[in-house]
Amino acid sequence: MKAFTFFSLVLSVATGIVSAQSLQSVKDMIIANAKADNIDLTVLPCFDQAIADIQQIYANAPGQKRDFSRRQATTATAANIVDVHAHVGPAWYKALFPTIGGQAVPDWKLNDTFNFMATQGIQHSVLAFSVPGPNVWPGDQKKTIALARLMNEQAAAYGKVYPGVFNFYGQVPLPYTQDAITEAKYATQKLGAVGIWLQSNTEGKYLGDLTFKPFFQAVNSWSGRQLLYIHPSIPLLRVNGQLIDSNPTPYVTGKIEFYFETARTVMDLTLTQTIHNFTNINYLIPHVGGGFPAAIDRILKSYPTIYDSSLQIYCTRFWWDSAGPTYFHQVAGLLGYGIPKSQLLYGTDYPYAPLAVQPASFTAVKNRPDFTADEKTAIFRGNAVKLFDGKIKFN
Ligand SMILES: *[C@@H]1O[C@H](CO)[C@@H](O)[C@H](O)[C@H]1NC(C)=O
Ligand SMILES: *[C@@H]1O[C@H](CO)[C@@H](O)[C@H](O)[C@H]1NC(C)=O
Repeated sequence: MKAFTFFSLVLSVATGIVSAQSLQSVKDMIIANAKADNIDLTVLPCFDQAIADIQQIYANAPGQKRDFSRRQATTATAANIVDVHAHVGPAWYKALFPTIGGQAVPDWKLNDTFNFMATQGIQHSVLAFSVPGPNVWPGDQKKTIALARLMNEQAAAYGKVYPGVFNFYGQVPLPYTQDAITEAKYATQKLGAVGIWLQSNTEGKYLGDLTFKPFFQAVNSWSGRQLLYIHPSIPLLRVNGQLIDSNPTPYVTGKIEFYFETARTVMDLTLTQTIHNFTNINYLIPHVGGGFPAAIDRILKSYPTIYDSSLQIYCTRFWWDSAGPTYFHQVAGLLGYGIPKSQLLYGTDYPYAPLAVQPASFTAVKNRPDFTADEKTAIFRGNAVKLFDGKIKFN
């Protein structure tokens, strides 16, 4: 294998010359790095398409004109929003799991995100693949760990090619705890992920599950504050060895059930005292906590010894993104517990939440009478800049 470094790739992207040879090297490097962690990517039926897609990101890079002049002046900020909740869903991934939570996965191309950011005044997006993460083949350990790796290589590629525009949250192959530790390390320490994306449950296990504790222990032991992003997922139950979608209502999971999922898993992390014991971990919770804030008192007053300490953690090591129409009233649930406004971030959920629904959510933040202009500006940007502490760059 020809010696090839990330540095030479960056150089070739910067100079606009990405040769067939460097694209072959991208593939070789991904395979070699996976092998070093005992991961066999070729077990994946989507391997060829995914690699081709990743190579495209590098190949297209020089031709992609980023036109920031089109960022609109309709925003509360100087068109410099940081979107902490944005998704990618390349065609090869959609093919594996075409509907999620009762809704079709959107058809998406990177150019859609560029156009979206330009019209919404977004300067930087932190990207993540969405549900079900790498858990496309429940019970298949080899495929799950291979898929997590491939997803991370792709998400990282966006950030490498457009470092001022994108960063990403890394995927991990839970419920395989040791493999998840390996992958979290690779994603954050080798690929530069700014956080780790977790689902409310993986294959029916919520995040306080005892078998996951070594994962929290390991992440907690790494230097620097670590960030876990807790995304809602489909509620799954294991019945007679089979995983079944346990949404008990006729309503679309992504519209309703997700918010109970968020509440369930944050409560699990709290009642197991995972959040208390591993103090080097920060948490980012989408949709201003979903159904969680409404239930805190009723649940936690039954556990008086951890009531105060839990609230303290929600106010200091938890951040809360706005994704969706959450600022009409819902955000008041968090504020009612004294969550400082400095813990609030802006997120769009694009493209899973399509362009059409964005203006109302954005305007709801802008129109809140109980936030000062400075506090709103901080939600759109400053609070995220502070949280990521130099890890995200700007053009
Ligand atoms: C990206 O979108 C812009 C704006 O719609 C369009 O002009 C351009 O041709 C698109 N580029 C690609 C590669 O699709
Ligand atoms: C956290 O520590 C408490 C004791 O202080 C213990 O009871 C609990 O099991 C621990 N939880 C985890 C997830 O480590």
